[in-house]
Amino acid sequence: MSVEPPRPLVAGNWKMNGLKAQTAVLTEILAGYVPALRSRVDLAICPPATLVGRFTEMAAGSAIGIGGQDCHAKAAGAFTGDLSAEMLADMGATYVLVGHSERRQYHGETDSEVAAKALAAHRAGLVAIVCIGETKDEREAGKTLDVVRTQLAGSVPDGSTSQNLIVAYEPVWAIGTGLTPTASDVEEVHAVIRASLGALVGAEEQGRVRILYGGSVKPSNAAELMAVPNVNGALVGGASLVAADFLGIANAYHA
Ligand code: PGA
Repeated sequence: MSVEPPRPLVAGNWKMNGLKAQTAVLTEILAGYVPALRSRVDLAICPPATLVGRFTEMAAGSAIGIGGQDCHAKAAGAFTGDLSAEMLADMGATYVLVGHSERRQYHGETDSEVAAKALAAHRAGLVAIVCIGETKDEREAGKTLDVVRTQLAGSVPDGSTSQNLIVAYEPVWAIGTGLTPTASDVEEVHAVIRASLGALVGAEEQGRVRILYGGSVKPSNAAELMAVPNVNGALVGGASLVAADFLGIANAYHA
């Protein structure tokens, strides 16, 4: 059964970048999100937690969603330095990234922890953007599809739907490197993710979940990557820090 492709989303992940002065970037993005663009693509920005409240105020009424970059699995408690999905929601966030490869790599997050965080996001009413992707060694060993299937199955919690789950496929070796997989490699992985979603969200929702591609997306490659079947948008790191680049990527959807 074929369904309408989901409405695309271009989401920016600012990582540990952004001081008060960078609010000007959001101002520029807001100005560039003109009705013709808004009619074709959703936008979101995930700034550092320190700017989430400020950004939700700035973006109020604009249809640009604001998200966190991580959350704790618990709603509150003695977890110094952490923040909960409820806190992000309380600041007006609507999305949260979970299981980004930098969290998996530098904070040792496992699939089951990622699933618990995604569940926390759902509990708080946030959309969880669950990130998965293979390392260079895994790709070279021909394990990409197995890794992606395993991470997806382990990281997507029960109760996920197209309304509260977005999957981001980000090959670790493509993040921040300027390298990207070929369109046909992306197509192969996204098709496997789409197929695997059936068992996780049910046949009804399988075709509706947005699957983003991430890893060195820039204005010059966005049109090609976004045209790949089952690519329903992008998760953008470096290029999301420059308004013209972020909007240039979103404009891949501007016919
Ligand atoms: P990049 O990062 O666009 O800078 O490669 C993507 C990401 O880590 O989400």
